[in-house]
Amino acid sequence: MSDRSLLPGWAHRRVAGREQWASRIGFVMAAVGSAVGLGNLWRFPYEAATNGGAAFLVVNVVAVALIGLPAMLAEFVVGRRAQRNVVDAFREGGRAWATAGVLAAVTAFWIVSYYSVVGGWVVRYLFASPTGAYFAAPSSYFEAAAVGFDAVGYAAVFLVVTVVIVAMGIERGIELATKVMVPAILLLMVGLAAFAATLPGSGAGYAYFLEPDFGYIVDNAATLIPAAVGEVLFTLSLGAGIMITYASYVDETENLVADGAAIVVVNTLVGYLAGLIVFPLLFAQGVEPGSAGPGAIFVSIANAFRTLPAGELFGVVFYFVVLVAALSSAISLLEIPTAYFVDTTDVERPVVAAALGVGAFALAVPSALDQSLFGFFDSVASQVLLPTGLFLVTVFVGWVYGREAVAELGEGDGGTLSRAWHWYLRTVVFAAVGMTLLLSLASFAGVELL
Ligand code: PFF
Repeated sequence: MSDRSLLPGWAHRRVAGREQWASRIGFVMAAVGSAVGLGNLWRFPYEAATNGGAAFLVVNVVAVALIGLPAMLAEFVVGRRAQRNVVDAFREGGRAWATAGVLAAVTAFWIVSYYSVVGGWVVRYLFASPTGAYFAAPSSYFEAAAVGFDAVGYAAVFLVVTVVIVAMGIERGIELATKVMVPAILLLMVGLAAFAATLPGSGAGYAYFLEPDFGYIVDNAATLIPAAVGEVLFTLSLGAGIMITYASYVDETENLVADGAAIVVVNTLVGYLAGLIVFPLLFAQGVEPGSAGPGAIFVSIANAFRTLPAGELFGVVFYFVVLVAALSSAISLLEIPTAYFVDTTDVERPVVAAALGVGAFALAVPSALDQSLFGFFDSVASQVLLPTGLFLVTVFVGWVYGREAVAELGEGDGGTLSRAWHWYLRTVVFAAVGMTLLLSLASFAGVELL
């Protein structure tokens, strides 16, 4: 048979010595750790703020339900079946398909670069919190922190920590780290949301975030839909090979549907929780959310905490949470290209991780020195690379895998659900992701389609 065929049973050729998660909860935590990150805490509130607040939330909820979970299951199926890195997983469909895997690995590498710049801002704010250094002039502090050589330096610090965890491997590094990180994030965020509720003026924030203007959705569909779907892909870590790679360390007996549902639900709740923290804070200080931009959580939080008796302490707690969430996502991004080189070369994991870390740092420098380049990196990722990546996954699982995919999802679960999912993937998800891709490309290129 040619290399274009999928031989039944090839999936169970586990490569001797390849790592695996030690436990089911370890996999779920690592995937949640990847999903929950700056996408929820920093990107979601500011995207919502620039796209009509609650209107954005509505489209987001629909997109999570319609595309998020079924697409995540598709990535799981690819990864677990192949038990290989993303490039080799796609290669099972023929040599040309390996390109899709390379694209995914490049996407992850691309994102980890500018992601580390934001991670660097967080490191800086964490260090500055004990003395309340950003209290005096929150806006100008952010402007100085966001761009320039300091930003380059702090991005480097963030990347070093990321590299160290990835170098330690799946079980001892990623699994152990995220098992501690995820519960800590959840606990602290609930506390912060409760605190935000006590602020005078917070009611206007809830209204902005929770009461949609449906007229806005209709009038702005052409930009709103790609932005909201792009955010869903970003926040669920879809389209960059993350869930494919993480699922490749999963055992065949595991119920992927239950795991996927848990991951999507927790991630979505964290995003909304972030909105319930950030919007009351913004409105309590009379900050117009649309004007806040990428600095939203930095400036608003600084402003809110400065009025509190133990503001420094709140600052430490808050930025610690954000940092932990950012790190558990950054490690997933760096893991994708790392897994490829670990699987296919003799180079040791720590060396691979370090070399990729250096490369990611070089790619981060432009974003750290120029805000518009930073915006460019983010738009390319969310509007071009991630939708393209996910579209390819959908086609791959829908048509190249065909029945194999149904069988794979069925391993830890009944048959009817798997068949329904596969049908749904080939129709609704395919159409929705394809349309989003078109809209996203048009919006990226500045062409009006709707
Ligand atoms: N999901 C992560 C977040 O929300 O911060 C970041 C991320 C990871 C984005 C992996 C994209 C990706 F492929």
